Amino acid sequence: MSHPFSRSTSPLCSRFIAILVLTLLGIPFSLAQSRPDAKDLLRQMTLEEKIAQLSQLPGFPMPEFVRQVGKIDDVIRKYGAGSVLWVSEPKQINRLQHIAVDESRLHIPILFGLDVIHGYHTIFPAPIAMASSWDPKMVESTQTVAAREARAAGIAWTFAPMLDIARDARWGRMVEGAGEDPYLGAAMARAQVLGFQGTQPGALDRVLACAKHFAGYGAADGGRDYDSSYIPEEQMWNTYLPPFKAAADAGVATFMSAYMDLNDIPASGNRWLLHDVLRDAWSYKGFVVSDAMAVHSLITHGYARDGEDAAFKAFSAGLDMDMASGTYLKYLGTEVQQGRISLQQIDDAVLPILEAKIRLGLFEHPYVDETRIPQVLNAPQSLELARTAAQRSVVLLRNQQNALPLSKNQIRSIVVIGPLADAELDLLDMWGAMTKPGPTVTVLQGIKNKVGSSVRVEFAHGPNIRRDIPSFFENVGMVTIKEQPKQTPEEARKAFDDAVAAAKRSDVAVLVMGEIALMSGEAASRSSLKLSGGQEELLEAVVATGKPVVLVLINGRPLDISWAAEHVPAILEAWYPGSQGGNGIADVLFGDANPAGHLPVSWPRSSGQLPLYYNHNLTQRPEDAPDFTSRYWDILSTPLYPFGFGLSYTTFTFDNLKLSQTEAKVGATLDASVDVTNSGSRLGDTVVQLYIHQRAGSASRPVRQLKGFQRVNLAPGTKQTVHFKLGPDELQFWTPAKRQWVVEPEQFDVWVGESSAATLHSEFRLTP
Ligand code: NOJ
Repeated sequence: MSHPFSRSTSPLCSRFIAILVLTLLGIPFSLAQSRPDAKDLLRQMTLEEKIAQLSQLPGFPMPEFVRQVGKIDDVIRKYGAGSVLWVSEPKQINRLQHIAVDESRLHIPILFGLDVIHGYHTIFPAPIAMASSWDPKMVESTQTVAAREARAAGIAWTFAPMLDIARDARWGRMVEGAGEDPYLGAAMARAQVLGFQGTQPGALDRVLACAKHFAGYGAADGGRDYDSSYIPEEQMWNTYLPPFKAAADAGVATFMSAYMDLNDIPASGNRWLLHDVLRDAWSYKGFVVSDAMAVHSLITHGYARDGEDAAFKAFSAGLDMDMASGTYLKYLGTEVQQGRISLQQIDDAVLPILEAKIRLGLFEHPYVDETRIPQVLNAPQSLELARTAAQRSVVLLRNQQNALPLSKNQIRSIVVIGPLADAELDLLDMWGAMTKPGPTVTVLQGIKNKVGSSVRVEFAHGPNIRRDIPSFFENVGMVTIKEQPKQTPEEARKAFDDAVAAAKRSDVAVLVMGEIALMSGEAASRSSLKLSGGQEELLEAVVATGKPVVLVLINGRPLDISWAAEHVPAILEAWYPGSQGGNGIADVLFGDANPAGHLPVSWPRSSGQLPLYYNHNLTQRPEDAPDFTSRYWDILSTPLYPFGFGLSYTTFTFDNLKLSQTEAKVGATLDASVDVTNSGSRLGDTVVQLYIHQRAGSASRPVRQLKGFQRVNLAPGTKQTVHFKLGPDELQFWTPAKRQWVVEPEQFDVWVGESSAATLHSEFRLTP
């Protein structure tokens, strides 16, 4: 089908005639465009119009952008626009879309993009929490709802999933990803891409996904956001790239380049990443957008001389769309005119953007139907799913003498204490609070809902907590979440004493502590992982009352809870649990849901251990050697809780680990099976995890690597045999010795269990 307005007739004139005819026929204007052919459209475009398609305009006021390239309304009217971001008001979306569709020469609709990271209205648990569920199916369902809500509100492109492997909890953005492991990360990547995009490209209740931040952002020096990453090629292939590869294989429509220098070349101008890996090695056909301002930032990095050089370096590296910096709009034309960039290169970059818009149905359906939005956003099943997701994401870290679950019948009074106990937006994390979140059930409210009037529930906030340096996001007014107000020492003291007094008059104290949302996320790195702002002292004082204490953590990264891990009987990691967080947590606290989340990161004892990850190589003197070991002299080098760890209210036993072969040829696929029995007295889930180790080879191999997992549900006393496949996909690695993927004839260990510390062992040999 060809575009309705051809080059020979003036487009405005054709448009006018079309509108007139449609009006006479009583057909609404939004049907005025049919699905064009991308190549036809491309042939009609001027260079300026093409460059506008390679530009994403900021919907948030940015005076510097206006100074450099003009007001976005004017740019759209004159040339159109590939995309606009940071607009979440449907009215504003329709207004801008009308400019593009009715007033720009070729009527190409705008693709609106937004950070719909874990929900648009119904906010699901933050990505690190969802990864803790080890439940890709559930994660896919949550992102399906996120897509439906966002699309109904006019957002057709989300900047998610975030696929950065994070091994350093000082880095604030650990919360946005699936943790430290490439295998789990890849599973979560696939699930999210499928959830957002579906399998039928262009369905009207789906959005385009964006695999970000390509790549290596999580390895920032010292965990400082935006700082340089130095990652050897073998670690890129084996550790940092697999989730991105999984997203590409799942059909992710777009990629976003990262901010930082990767091995001294900024990711947004890094041809090795954007071209050699993405296009050459992976044959990726979608398009790449920069992170915000990242094209201009090539100058700040000391990589590009000026705007022209930045446009040239980013574009020729393989970066198709400039997010919000206006550098392409201003300089890319000159690069073409001066022959440094060819028209063919421009066309190659524009085509996938046009195709994406066509596939999404934007030409036929450019506008938001505002009347439909409330019905989509308030679907009761979405809230149910948010509650289930919260239940399935929490990780029970400690439960001495079955302190949990609490029993409503045996408690007369509960005090819920802490600066996060009744915090609404903080349960959503920064991104969740930035779209159009619906109401949030706080932990206090969830507990009240659960116990009804039979139990007295008291609340004590305790001292306020704040960042030492305020968040940039709060300063520029981009977020609705706020810091907790500053208190005088007297006010803080009084809040502290009130909380301890309340604990003394209650049967049980539930402490809800951790990090307000602004303490994690972008530009939210920290050097210490301690419970800040007097929380640790309050926790110790409440424990000293002798009352039973449960610690619920709300946070975006593992915190230093070494004291709590010895003195607090029950600890529940809830991360940022989303809109239904309070209900989901209360379900777990009172045993209506059995926790089965498992850690997607190794939990450090202190920030001094970072970076920390389970899949490290052996040293020449392993931890158990008698002397000269690599361990610190003041602290163990093992984590407080290992990767994959999580408790349940029931217990599971693992036995009968069987391999289909103990010797097989390279290229063969083995079956590993294990019997899992619920040996406790409650129905529950566990996450069966399989790890391998290659004992020798052309390169040192990690002590363990996750290569399979399955979340299973078992009634007390029942058993299930769980199978895993061990074939070339699981056994290969990228060897620096040959700079290629290999499966090597070697001896392999296999462990299966409930964490990376699993002990049930078997082994096999691959022969040439
Ligand atoms: C900057 C962040 O790094 C990225 O994750 C986000 O998608 C963009 N801004 C757009 O908001």
